[in-house]
Amino acid sequence: MVLVQTAMENSEQKAKTAETLLEIRNLKTYFKINGSIVKAVDNVSLKIINGEILGLIGETGCGKSVLGLSILRLLPENAKIEGNLLFRGKEILSLSKAEMRKLRGKEIVLIPQNPSTSLNPLMQIGCQVLEAVIRHHNLKKSEAVSKVLDLFSKLKLQEPPRKFRDFPHQLSGGMKQRVLMAMGVACNPKLIIVDEPTKGLDAVLRIEVVRMLKETASAAGTSMLLITHDFSVAAALAHRIAVMYAGEIVEMGKTAAVLRNPRHPYTAGLLNSLPGKGFNPIPGSSPSIISLPEGCRFHPRCSRANMKCTASHPELVKLNDDHFVRCFNVCF
Ligand SMILES: Nc1ncnc2c1ncn2[C@@H]1O[C@H](COP(=O)(O)OP(=O)(O)OP(=O)(O)O)[C@@H](O)[C@H]1O
Ligand code: SF4
Ligand SMILES: [Mg+2]
Repeated sequence: MVLVQTAMENSEQKAKTAETLLEIRNLKTYFKINGSIVKAVDNVSLKIINGEILGLIGETGCGKSVLGLSILRLLPENAKIEGNLLFRGKEILSLSKAEMRKLRGKEIVLIPQNPSTSLNPLMQIGCQVLEAVIRHHNLKKSEAVSKVLDLFSKLKLQEPPRKFRDFPHQLSGGMKQRVLMAMGVACNPKLIIVDEPTKGLDAVLRIEVVRMLKETASAAGTSMLLITHDFSVAAALAHRIAVMYAGEIVEMGKTAAVLRNPRHPYTAGLLNSLPGKGFNPIPGSSPSIISLPEGCRFHPRCSRANMKCTASHPELVKLNDDHFVRCFNVCF
């Protein structure tokens, strides 16, 4: 609850002035698999402005990670990507491989959901973070080592000097992800895409990780795309929230507005399924994105569905200022 309140206080202030850092227009990321098309990200448009944290929420398989990977063009061979990804006004989809390498790690950092392959298995983790610190800060080696140890300590990696000397195989998945967070933060990027930063962490550690991400973003003015299942984490950190369902954005708005007055039945359902709100799960499950339902993709699970919902597909419409909803029968 404290987490939620903190976000509400910050939510209104930040997103006022700054310019657009990333603009995604009509992004489609489809995979071809065994003759079928998986519409993992389907016509998504959104903006992230300088210094803003945008929380991306949704159930498993709705396309959150694929959206994050699409921004950095880290997609497998069977993927087809269409639309526009404008980073500081430049089209990411037109960049050469060399330009992409420059962008990754320097301007945009991805802290992936499954970090196993992102660390060099043959190098001590401290040295890997140290390389990033030395590359991006004008520090002597001893100062850089202190900075790494400080980052490890902030991220609650026990016994930082010992951890410094560990190799990736000696760490759990959650620890590897925190090492990548340390590395990402050390790079001073313009945008951090962090995928499920609190997955598998206990409550205390969750708060620490949330605190560290928040401090980092506000101290350096870094923007963040925060991908999470956990509404309380998004509420604590994000200025705005985008809710995704079956490859589409179904609601997007300022965090306080979405939490206080969710306008899409799916968002309302996600909030009602939280332990603090009575723990009432949404009936049914997300559709297979190989064979999506006709009409509104949420209609088989929606208590407000009517004939129109089964026949027509709703567009994302602007309700007011900064609040968008994809529903024929908006909740009031
Ligand atoms: N390489 C691929 N080939 C085919 N389908 C894929 C591929 N990668 C992802 N998908 C599919 O795309 C959809 C979206 O996947 P994604 O990993 O983005 O979900 P998610 O929202 O991140 O889920 P979770 O919360 O479980 O991490 C899923 O149906 C997934 O099976
Ligand atoms: S369009 Fe209809 S089915 Fe879809 S969310 Fe709105 S009320 Fe429910
Ligand atoms: Mg994911």
